[in-house]
Amino acid sequence: MAKYAAAIDQGTTSTRFMIFDHSGNVVGVDQKEHEQIYPKPGWVEHDPMEIWTRTQEVIEGALRKSGVDPKDIAAVGVTNQRETTIVWEKATGKPVYNAIVWQDTRTDKICNELAADGGQDRFRPKTGLPLATYFSGPKIKWILDNVPGVREKAEKGEVIFGNIDTWVIWNLTGGPKGGVHVTDVSNASRTMLMNLETLDWDDEILGILGIPRAMLPAIRPSSEVYGYAKGLLEGIPVAGDLGDQQAALFGQACYSPGEAKNTYGTGCFMLLNTGTRPVPSKSGLLTTLAYKIGNQPAVYALEGSIAITGALVQWLRDNLKMIESSKDVEALARTVEDNGGIYFVPAFSGLFAPYWRSDARGVIVGLTRYINRGHIARAALEATAYQTREVLDAMNADSGVPLTALKVDGGMVYNELLMQFQADILGVPVIRPKVAETTSLGAAYAAGMAVGFWTNFDELRANWQVDKVWNPQMSPEERERLYAGWKKAVQRTFGWVE
Ligand code: G3P
Repeated sequence: MAKYAAAIDQGTTSTRFMIFDHSGNVVGVDQKEHEQIYPKPGWVEHDPMEIWTRTQEVIEGALRKSGVDPKDIAAVGVTNQRETTIVWEKATGKPVYNAIVWQDTRTDKICNELAADGGQDRFRPKTGLPLATYFSGPKIKWILDNVPGVREKAEKGEVIFGNIDTWVIWNLTGGPKGGVHVTDVSNASRTMLMNLETLDWDDEILGILGIPRAMLPAIRPSSEVYGYAKGLLEGIPVAGDLGDQQAALFGQACYSPGEAKNTYGTGCFMLLNTGTRPVPSKSGLLTTLAYKIGNQPAVYALEGSIAITGALVQWLRDNLKMIESSKDVEALARTVEDNGGIYFVPAFSGLFAPYWRSDARGVIVGLTRYINRGHIARAALEATAYQTREVLDAMNADSGVPLTALKVDGGMVYNELLMQFQADILGVPVIRPKVAETTSLGAAYAAGMAVGFWTNFDELRANWQVDKVWNPQMSPEERERLYAGWKKAVQRTFGWVE
C-alpha cells in the first residue's frame, strides 16, 4: 500500500516538490528559485529549460532529504503559475522563445486592437475573462507574430503550446519520447481560448486570434491519470493538474458553493466556489473553472485577481533596499502607529480586479515630511488588505451572499500585523489552517483522488484544521474612513500610460 501522494508546484518565483501523508501532513519538501528575466519595462520572462531543471532538482532534493522511497508514492500532481505561456518544438523539446509570464504587459497593443472591435468584454460571455495582458491567448499570438517560422510549424502541430502545467507534465512523462500533451480545465480557462460551457477550445476565438488548434493540448479533467512519470519518479501515475489558485481552493477544502479562500503570494487571488454552473460577473471578477474530478461535472468559481501584493514587499527589499529579508517588513511597519496618512497603490502591471486598467501605474499619495520608512512599509502591507477588500466587495455584489469569514493561505499569512489589519478592513474573521501549503496539498489531493489514495471530499475535509483566527477589532467608522482614502488613492493611478 502506498503511503504518500506528492505534488510539483511550479510558481512564479520558485519550484517546489512536496510529499504528503494520508492526513495531509508534509513529510518531504524541497524548493528552488529561478531567474526572473526583465528584457524591457513591463516584460517578464522565465527560461523554460531552467524551470524543468529546477523541477528535477527539487524532486531529487525532497526524496533525498525525506528518505521517502518513490515506490511509496501513490500519485503525483502538478500545480503551476497560471497563464504563463511556452511554445516549443515537439521533436526536440526546445522552446522557440522564453516563457512569457502572466505579469508581462507586452500584449497591451494586441489587447487594445482586439477590444477596438467589440470592447474589452467581447470574449467574456464565452470565456469569463476581460481582454487583458494577463491571459495566455494574446501571448501565444505575440509569439506566432514575432518569432520567425513558428506559425507554419504550429499549423502542422510541430511546435506546440502549453502553460507551465503542460510543459512540466510533457517533460515528466517523457518529453520528445512520448510525453503527453495535456492541460486541465482550470488552466485552460485562463487562456481566453476555452469555452466555459463546452470545456473545449473555441473555434471562433481561435480564428480571431489566428491560433492553430493543432498546437493546443487536450483539455482533461483536473483529477485523472494522464500518463506515467519517467526518471526519478519512474512509473508513478501523473494524475492531478490544477492552476495554483484553484489548487489552493482544493487544498483549503472549499468543495461547496459559497466557500472561498484567499492566497497571499506574489499577488493575491480570492476564489469563491460557485458550484456546477458558471456565474457571470458584473463587478470585475473572472468566471473561471475551479476543478473537474474525473467524470463528475465541472465546478466553477468567481475569482478576484490582484497582481501585486507580496511582490511589493520584494520590491521594497530588492529595489529600495529598505529591508534585508521579506519578513523584516513587519518589524519595520511596527515602528509606526499607523500609515501617517499615506497610501501606496502598487499598480505595477496596471490594475487587475476589479478594475482591469492596463493604463494604471503605481503611486504613493499623501506624502509629507513626517513620513518615514516605517510608514512606507506599513502602507505597502495595508495595500494588500485594501486590494483584498475591493475584491471581497465585488464577490459579495456578484454572489449576493456576503462572505462571513475568509480562509487564507500563502507566505504572507504569517505576517500578524497584516492579518489583523486584513480582518479589520474586511470586517469578517480571517482564518489560517494548520497546513498552509494548500497549493501543493490541493494538487496532491487531486492526484491521490484519481488513484483511490483518497476516495471522497469528506476525507479531505477531515484533514483541514484551524491554526489561527483573527477577528475584526476596528470600529466600522474607522474602517470606512480608511477605505475611503484608499479608493481616492486608486483614482490617482488611472491614465498614467496611454
Ligand atoms: O495567475 C497567476 C498565479 O497563478 C500566480 O501565482 O503564486 O505563482 O504567484 P503565484
